[in-house]
Order: sequence, then structure tokens, then C-alpha cells
Amino acid sequence: MSATSRIDPPAPRLLVLGGTGFVGRTLCEQLVAQGRHRVVVPTRRLAHGSPLQPLPTVELVAADVHDDAQLAQLLGGVDAVVNLVAILHGRAADFQHVHVELPQRLAAACTRAGVRRVVHVSALAVGADAPSLYLRSKSAGESALRGSGLDVTVLRPSVIFGAGDRFLNLLASLQALAPGRPRAGASARFQPVWVADVARAILASLAQPQSSGQTFECAGPQVHTLAELVRLAGRWAGHARPQIALPMVLGYWQARLLEWLPGAPLMSRDNLDSMRVDSVASGRMPGLDALGIQASALAAVAPGYLGAAQGCSRYGHWRALAGRG
Ligand SMILES: NC(=O)c1ccc[n+]([C@@H]2O[C@H](COP(=O)([O-])OP(=O)(O)OC[C@H]3O[C@@H](n4cnc5c(N)ncnc54)[C@H](OP(=O)(O)O)[C@@H]3O)[C@@H](O)[C@H]2O)c1
Repeated sequence: MSATSRIDPPAPRLLVLGGTGFVGRTLCEQLVAQGRHRVVVPTRRLAHGSPLQPLPTVELVAADVHDDAQLAQLLGGVDAVVNLVAILHGRAADFQHVHVELPQRLAAACTRAGVRRVVHVSALAVGADAPSLYLRSKSAGESALRGSGLDVTVLRPSVIFGAGDRFLNLLASLQALAPGRPRAGASARFQPVWVADVARAILASLAQPQSSGQTFECAGPQVHTLAELVRLAGRWAGHARPQIALPMVLGYWQARLLEWLPGAPLMSRDNLDSMRVDSVASGRMPGLDALGIQASALAAVAPGYLGAAQGCSRYGHWRALAGRG
């Protein structure tokens, strides 16, 4: 062996739960570009992770993360875990299972396996007394991890935008298909954050051990009402339509009807409940800037991908909802 040769230590191994999702796909791309980690992404169905298949340092494995034995196996040789698993719709028991029991079991499994570092993605406006099952269960999940004694960083994003997002693409598609669709919650306020900035925040948290024990609010530079976001999404997608504001009580009836349609509902009563509190940074906790990230503006990014969704590609959202994405 020459005097200058050395054996590099193995790259840290990162387990990304929920890594096949919207945030997870961008995170995995950034992890591969950074080239510092070997990444394991469990999925309920390998087909859900097809966009990750070509990524060289990402290993996609079929696994049930709710099964303690499989979770323990996934944690073998892992240096850190990112938890992105979440649902938007469901019954109280579903939210409890995914948002509360999984973090509880993850905390216990990490403790047993000696994996100390966890980055957990939550949401702005969570709280034990928040108005929706989604927000209350996300709050309980945060608490389970925070109280575990592990080195946990919690990130709380507002609504996340980016190519392939659910939110702005849905607002744009609905205007194309159902002009003048009545909409409730028009005055609800959001501070949309770019998916690439959320992924960077996860990477920065992993790279900065001093972020352990902290909660970061992940929000973009501007606050928008839902009515403004509908107007902007329509304009940028090239089919702006007049909006009809619906009183909340009628919005609940509309959501109740949508919940009965087959497939994932476009809107649920619990989603409307979530919109009763602003998804806006409180300023009481550090934000993206504390992680060295300057948040990108919605107007700088969204017109690029909403405007590009012309022809058949603008039906991508509906194909995904029908399970043909
Ligand atoms: N998107 C937003 O606007 C937004 C806003 C605020 C906070 N957040 C938070 O950010 C995180 C990531 O969100 P996202 O938009 O990337 O979510 P997403 O696209 O819905 O992905 C979630 C992932 O979780 C996995 N998953 C879903 N249900 C599961 C279940 N019952 N059991 C096991 N795994 C399940 C799925 O993986 P498989 O199907 O491959 O198993 C899926 O890829 C979540 O914690 C979410 O609450 C998101």
C-alpha cells in the first residue's frame, strides 16, 4: 500500500420511510446528487417507487413498516432515519395508526437498534387542540418522537409545491375540468414552500447535529389565501376561471359527497377542518434560514411546471388519483 492510499469509511446508511412520496422523491434525488449516503426506501408496493428505480445509491425494498420485525430489520446498520410517512384522508383510526403509532414504534425500534438520529417531517399548525384529526395526530406523532430521548429534529412545512404536487396541480386541474366550481375556505392562509427547499432542510438537519432537539418551521417567503392560490394556479396553468365562494357549512356537504366517490377523495371534511387554522409560520421557532436555506418564492417556480402541464400531461393528477400514475 502506498503512503498516500487510504480506505474510505463506508458511506452513512439512511433509511427514508415514505421516501416514494412527493417529498421523498426530491429528497432521494438530492441525496444521490450529494453522493454522501446509501439510501434505503421501504415501500408497500415496489411500483410506487418506480421513479426511484434509476437512482444509483437508492435501494427500494418492499416492506411493511408497521411490522416491528420488518422495521427492526430495516434499521440494521442504519445511521439515521427520515420519517415522511403520512396520510391526508382517513378515519380516526387510520390517522392514529400512521401518524401516532408508527412514530411511537419507530422511536422504540430505533432505541432497540441503537439508531439515535431521526428527522421527522410534521406540518405547520399541528397541536393537541388543533381542529382536524390530521393536525392533532401529527402533533401526537411529533411528541412521541420528541419524548423518546433520541436525537430528533422536527420539520414543520406549510403546504408544499413543486412539479407533481397534489395541491396546486389539483387547484389548476379542477378549473380546467369544472369551471366556476364552488369552493369553501377561500380565506384560509398558507405560506407555500418549495419541495426542493424542504428536501434541503432535511439534508441540512442531517448534516447539523446541533439541529437535534429543535423544531423548524418550513415556509416560503409569501403568505397567500386559498382564493389567491386558486387564482394563481388557474392563471399559470392557462385556464383561469371565476371562483364561487362557498360558505363553510355548504363546503362540509360538498366534502361529504366527495368522500363517497371512489378513490382518494379530492377533499374531505377533515381537510376543511385543517384549514380553520392558518398554515403560516408562527415565527416562534427557527425557520429555513436557520438551516442556511433561502426559501424560493411560489411565483418563481410554479408557473414553470403548471404552465408546462399542457396536452395529456395535465391529466397526470387524475391518472394518479385513479392509480394509473
Ligand atoms: N405535501 C404537502 O403539501 C405537505 C404539507 C405539510 C406537511 N407535509 C408532510 O410531509 C411529509 C411528506 O409528505 P408527502 O407529500 O411527500 O407525502 P406523500 O406523497 O403522500 O407520501 C407519503 C408516503 O408515505 C407512505 N405511506 C402512505 N400511507 C402509508 C401507510 N398507511 N403505511 C405505510 N406507508 C404509507 C407512501 O409510501 P408507499 O406508498 O410507497 O408505501 C408514500 O410514499 C408528510 O409527513 C406530510 O404530512 C406534506
